[in-house]
Amino acid sequence: MRIAVGSDHRGVHLRVKLVELLDRLGQQVIDFGTDSQESVDYPDVAEVVARKVSSKEVDRGILICGTGLGMCIAANKVPGVRAAPCHDDLTAELSRRHNDLNVLCLSGDILGEKLVDRLVEIWLKTEFEGGRHLRRVEKIAALENGNGKA
Ligand code: RB5
Repeated sequence: MRIAVGSDHRGVHLRVKLVELLDRLGQQVIDFGTDSQESVDYPDVAEVVARKVSSKEVDRGILICGTGLGMCIAANKVPGVRAAPCHDDLTAELSRRHNDLNVLCLSGDILGEKLVDRLVEIWLKTEFEGGRHLRRVEKIAALENGNGKA
């Protein structure tokens, strides 16, 4: 898989470990930084990674900030992106099976390296179930395109 990754300054340490993991797993990584502890604004990084996912230049994206929340909010503004923070095995798995999550958001402040390794492996290998979940994901896309029901 082609995977775009990015973090703000609060996620640098975890992103470095994440890139090592993705390399070990044989994934094709495109790393958009940031590379120092100097403060950057998470929406700037989220936008770059989200646009790569939206344009299908990459298959998935992974974003890291302090909580994972700011990256998630920003990434979801880009059409076609389904981003959410995952903190445990179940959310990592169901985010794929039910929501076809294409951008995984992680917390650099809260999550340990071992847990992140496990979450990412689960998230990468779990397939979207389709069926009734596809109908729901399509309704999200309709909302995005201004064709919601209300
Ligand atoms: C940066 O200080 C912090 O706000 C950011 O990393 C993230 O946690 C935002 O949601």
